[in-house]
Amino acid sequence: MSTIDTPKPHVSLDEITALAKRRGFIFPSSEIYGGIGGFFDYGPLGAVLKRNVKDAWWRENVEQRDDVVAFDSSIVMHPRTWEASGHVAAFHDKLVDCRNCKHRFRADHLPSLDKCPDCGMTGTLTEPRNFSLMMQTQVGAMEDADAQAWLRPETAQGIFVNFKNIYQSARKKPPFGVAQIGKSFRNEITPRYFTFRQREFEQAELEYFVPDDGSDLAWFQSWVKARKKWYSDYGVRADRLRFYELSDEERPFYAKAGIDVEYLFPWGWGELESIAHRGTYDLDRHIEFSGKDLQFFDEASKQKYTPILIESSAGMDRTTLTMLIDAYDSETIVEGDKETKRTVLRFHPKIAPVQAGVFPLARNKPELVERAKRIERALRTNLRTQYDEGNVGQLYRRQDEIGTPFCMMVDYQTLDDGTVTVRDRDSMKQDRVSTDALAAYLHERLS
Ligand code: GAP
Repeated sequence: MSTIDTPKPHVSLDEITALAKRRGFIFPSSEIYGGIGGFFDYGPLGAVLKRNVKDAWWRENVEQRDDVVAFDSSIVMHPRTWEASGHVAAFHDKLVDCRNCKHRFRADHLPSLDKCPDCGMTGTLTEPRNFSLMMQTQVGAMEDADAQAWLRPETAQGIFVNFKNIYQSARKKPPFGVAQIGKSFRNEITPRYFTFRQREFEQAELEYFVPDDGSDLAWFQSWVKARKKWYSDYGVRADRLRFYELSDEERPFYAKAGIDVEYLFPWGWGELESIAHRGTYDLDRHIEFSGKDLQFFDEASKQKYTPILIESSAGMDRTTLTMLIDAYDSETIVEGDKETKRTVLRFHPKIAPVQAGVFPLARNKPELVERAKRIERALRTNLRTQYDEGNVGQLYRRQDEIGTPFCMMVDYQTLDDGTVTVRDRDSMKQDRVSTDALAAYLHERLS
């Protein structure tokens, strides 16, 4: 893809990885045993960040709509599912090995098959070979072929095989959608770029079934628009986001339209989400392989038809990583005659793991500590809060680095007149606000 006009990344992947570890967002999985490639754990703040991202997706795509229903299917499905979907036959990458340094590459990631990009030797790369991305597992006690199953490589198939169960029980008729967030597994040859390409990851998929009445492309465009709005509403910068239209050659044969949502990661543009017009391919294949009737029967017209599918499939780990990278800022601040640097995560308030931090001016003054804890407990009802104590400068620095939009400092004046200092993360401006008015003050600014 073209890199012309690509803005310069504002942060390196090393800086993000270090911050993620230092502040408890993301850790390599099983790190004490040396880690395992392509698997990650979310720390105390990362777990909340990812949950907020998923909740934001769910809120807009399910709860705020009356034409989308929720779903949650199993990870292991009948093996025939993956024959019907085409994954068993075709879900693989071409792989080459270097005979000299033993490194392994995806053929489509190499500029040339003549020279190894790691050791620089020429003529040492093997011919490309197919490598299945399906992660195998075994069901039950027998180790025979019948026990073989796969961990799903996408959540969507759970929706397709249940199409009839869903529309009949939810009493829905096209146009309507089914949404699901869940884990998927792919045996990636080269997991890399932190949580960008993992072997276990989470997807948020929306399968929208539309009638075969000529409205399909308009529905496709309306989903592109809705998804654009979502990224903008949750603060992803427009100049780091692009909607890349797939050409006829880049789309599968059955897809009439396709758009990849891409973000400008520190290593370049990378896919966050794919929005695809998939025609009737998925339902048709399951009808063929299962022999079951998955067509929609329209009571009004007494007509049977296979609905057309518009799919939006977003990676929740990639979106979480995007929020982390996009929020990252580093600036020089001048205080008196002193210049200091601060790192700040400018998270959207709905995404920020902590929305309000509360601390006492001194941790060895019980009356300040008790008052600060009381204020934090009261705010907890409606906000994600955190009580902390210690050196004031370090407290602010830490809260900036975890992206807390507002911090409240409880000092001696609080004991006199009931006011606290409220510091705004972005402007660093401070206001004096009465504790009685604090909840309303924060609510107005955070919503
Ligand atoms: N059902 C359609 C589907 O799965 P996809 O483009 O293969 O489409 C959708 O995947 C999204 O899932 C991607 O845009 C990406 O955000 C996420 N995703 C795919 N593979 C991933 C991986 N190995 N690690 C992290 N996220 C991944």
